[in-house]
Amino acid sequence: MSDFLQASLHHLLVFTIAAVLACEWALLRPGLAPATLRLLARLDAVYGLSALGILLVGFGRVMHGAKGAAFYTANPLFWTKIGVFALVGLLSIKPTLRILAWQKRLRADAGFTPSSADIAALRPLLLAELMLFAAIPVLAAAMARGIGHA
Ligand code: HEM
Repeated sequence: MSDFLQASLHHLLVFTIAAVLACEWALLRPGLAPATLRLLARLDAVYGLSALGILLVGFGRVMHGAKGAAFYTANPLFWTKIGVFALVGLLSIKPTLRILAWQKRLRADAGFTPSSADIAALRPLLLAELMLFAAIPVLAAAMARGIGHA
């Protein structure tokens, strides 16, 4: 039962992160209105919490899942999955810091909108996050079936 609950939560968090990243990508466009910037900041907070959540649930599944921790830790594809997830996290640092800084500016000036150049600088990072994130379920499906074991 615990394995089933953890697996369900894991999947829900995956879909949440995918949806949030796609929304952020769609919203982050030149001419970002103050209300949209506030929404973007809320979405980014949901992204951060969900990423933390999947990290906890994911390692919970490794430690307490039905297959035992060694099934995963001995598989290089598991570590590739973790590495890609870490890379997505690293790529998200700059957008998150920028969004927080813009929100601070917005608090001081209700009409503040980020420059088009600032926004354009973040879009490739978000796209890279989305593309790398899409690779993780493929690695997960392989890892879950023991593909990658020497
Ligand atoms: C550090 C974070 C993560 C850890 C430690 C982790 C760990 C795990 C574990 C232990 C399983 C169970 C595999 C099995 O049934 O034997 C699993 C399944 C899965 N994970 Fe993760 N995961 C993490 C993050 C993610 C992320 C970010 C995604 C999506 C982008 C993801 C997608 C999946 C999918 C789709 C499955 C089901 C695979 C299948 O049964 O075919 N995981 N994960």
